[in-house]
Amino acid sequence: MVQRTPPMGWNTWNTFGENISEKLIFETADAMAESGLRDAGYQYLVIDDCWSKKQRDSEGRLEPDPEKFPHGMKAVSDYVHSRGLKFGMYSCAGTLTCAGYPGSFEHEFIDAATFAEWGVDFLKYDYCYKPDYENGRLLYTRMGLALANSGRDILFNACSWGADQTAEWIGCTGAHSWRSTGDINDGWESIRRLSDLQLSLQPYGGINCFNDMDMLVVGMGGKGNVGFTGCTEEEYRVHFSIWALRNSPLFVGCDVRDMSDATRRTLLNREVIAINQDPACRQPFLVSRRSDSSAIWAKLLDNGDIAIGAFNMEDQEAGAWCSLSLPLASLGLNRSCGKTLVLRDLWTGEESTVRDDVELLAVPAHGCRLFRARIVDR
Ligand code: GLA
Repeated sequence: MVQRTPPMGWNTWNTFGENISEKLIFETADAMAESGLRDAGYQYLVIDDCWSKKQRDSEGRLEPDPEKFPHGMKAVSDYVHSRGLKFGMYSCAGTLTCAGYPGSFEHEFIDAATFAEWGVDFLKYDYCYKPDYENGRLLYTRMGLALANSGRDILFNACSWGADQTAEWIGCTGAHSWRSTGDINDGWESIRRLSDLQLSLQPYGGINCFNDMDMLVVGMGGKGNVGFTGCTEEEYRVHFSIWALRNSPLFVGCDVRDMSDATRRTLLNREVIAINQDPACRQPFLVSRRSDSSAIWAKLLDNGDIAIGAFNMEDQEAGAWCSLSLPLASLGLNRSCGKTLVLRDLWTGEESTVRDDVELLAVPAHGCRLFRARIVDR
């Protein structure tokens, strides 16, 4: 299968960790369908680590933990599909998963066959407990081949956190996305760090093998498995805007059975999602920069518009803002072309026309402005 846009969905890990069950998955599938998440594009419901028994069965197959999933995985998968969603699961390239459950090392083909039998549409594939003598590229290649020969379209979501120069070899392995950074937590520093780390890796991502900046923490409010300090609503909008602009997969990590209105407004902003899902999936580029953490990035969109994100990640006192300059010439639009931009602010809905060669954008501390710009005559 060819993955043309960053995959979108929900994953158990950020909020629930090992506390997962059939009941949670059924209720989440209902919530994804009823909250509008599914219709906005979040189509994969993914069970992360801690779903299996600690031992394989006598024939070497993985088995679900009967206490968490008493009716087996096919029943879970059938329910998820019945709600118009796709079903994702998790395994690991090493001997054990990161939480210590059996990994798929040297069981790649039997596990891919099991996943296909259960109706799995997505596999997140981690990198813990990899034997030192084994080559990461070959392990991801083996699972890539196993999935591609399983008789089912299964999206392959690699998760080696950028280790062992993943960027250089992941595109050879059959992976449709790859975790380009370490694990996120629900705090501003984590968002800023993952965003900074992403900059040098951006050229590696694109159609059919997207850089995955990790699951979203929007709406977690400091609660749950990777809950930490929590973020303000504006910080969550910065996080979502960066992930959207950089073509990262968008996997919701909060409890979607209980989302606040603010969380819904962020996660369900269709115009921001459209920036992420733009069919061209072009690489973003730097337009102007005030400091390491305050800069404007842009991405050319398929229909000729331009996505423009202005980010102020600096630590300033509450209420402060910085001014970022948007020179039209940095987008290739020199005065001589006779064109300017109409900026549509995707978080407020306001529109304004750029009158001068350089537009100054006021951006609040730990805040952002995200625009869809269309080109008009001056
Ligand atoms: C690793 C991954 C996380 C999560 C856990 C599960 O840390 O990076 O996203 O899957 O393992 O144990």
